[in-house]
Amino acid sequence: MVNSAICTKPLPAPPSVDAKLFKSFGVEVVSGFDPTDFTPEQFIELERLLYEHDVVLFRGLDLAPEHQYKLTKAFDPTCESYGHGNNQTTKQAKSVLHPDLKTIPSVPQVQLIGNGIVHDHWGLAEAKLKHPHHRTFHKDPVSEEDEAAGATRFYRWHIDAALYGDLAPPKVDEGEGGPGVTSLYAVAAPAGPPQVCRYDDGTGDELAVPLGTTAFVSGTTMLDVLPPALRSLAVRSSVRYAPHPYVWMARAHALPTGLGLEDEGLEVLPEELPPWDPRDQQTLPVCWRNPVTGRLHLQVHPCAIQALVVKPLPPGAASRTTDALYPNGGEVTDLAEVRRLVYALQRPGIAPGLVYPHAWSDGDLVLFHNRGVLHSVVGAFRPDQVRKFHQCNLAASDLPAGPTPEDIATYA
Ligand SMILES: [Fe+2]
Repeated sequence: MVNSAICTKPLPAPPSVDAKLFKSFGVEVVSGFDPTDFTPEQFIELERLLYEHDVVLFRGLDLAPEHQYKLTKAFDPTCESYGHGNNQTTKQAKSVLHPDLKTIPSVPQVQLIGNGIVHDHWGLAEAKLKHPHHRTFHKDPVSEEDEAAGATRFYRWHIDAALYGDLAPPKVDEGEGGPGVTSLYAVAAPAGPPQVCRYDDGTGDELAVPLGTTAFVSGTTMLDVLPPALRSLAVRSSVRYAPHPYVWMARAHALPTGLGLEDEGLEVLPEELPPWDPRDQQTLPVCWRNPVTGRLHLQVHPCAIQALVVKPLPPGAASRTTDALYPNGGEVTDLAEVRRLVYALQRPGIAPGLVYPHAWSDGDLVLFHNRGVLHSVVGAFRPDQVRKFHQCNLAASDLPAGPTPEDIATYA
């Protein structure tokens, strides 16, 4: 496929994906764009590719952190701070984001993540890295015996966003803050046998995945595959996120799908949180509007949700909908009910046929539209398997746009 000067081809989708739902998801740039040296006109073309396809892959790069930062920053040239609110989260020792981040000293917007002990790396004398293991987060993890036989889980489905204060979700990302774009560059991706990602939610669903894959799902597909009543709820709803959500969830456990939390009452109490202000809690639409294509993406960080705010059905919609949920609108604050509703909105979208599990090779750079996809860490490494990735996501200078009145009239 040729898009003006940039030549692309589809991502190498594994046989598990539903091909008809992956027609527009993801492209690999074959030629016509140098991530270390590009013109404003070339960048506009790359940006369009990202918004149209959600994931853009480059292969075989040798990319210095400053070049990764410059490329990521180009997606929102007015932003500077790290999208997960890194400066704040590193001060919050109890945040679930804290252990995974090692900053590159010369380019602090770029983080080293991975597994094993890394020496003399871009100014870091030594870094001890740990690939997140679902055992540390899921309530009922895979048994050691099953793990030895290759079973694993999605660690945590999420968008990279601070979800608190004035840091907006990044436009491209791999972290846990608020950017629009996240870039993720594989300096070293150890090879190993594939694993089987189990859902363990009674459906029998499972997915063959490469070792240490990053799993992506399309927020557009997540919305499109819903039955009409749930699509209507999605397009009319906003989510209110918890204050300091990554501290708030620090003691809680995840569902076996990694798509939200168990109802165990383990969330950090309001008075135990760092100082917070209700005015800094973010309330964001469930569906985010793509600025280039106009498509809606169902974008919710399911672990961080606290309430659902639902608009009433628009005039005329009630007559064609008999099974509408919350037809008169309302505010759902019962946490178990909020989670049940959001899980119903999101679980169909992570079905095995809808997941793109990227098979990482050294030199891969993945840019992803953090306002268009959800992603998850997957898998488990041994301590001697050294993996070095650089991630960069920058908090965007604007908040994502929600559905227009026309969108609501269409979907509701
Ligand atoms: Fe992430």
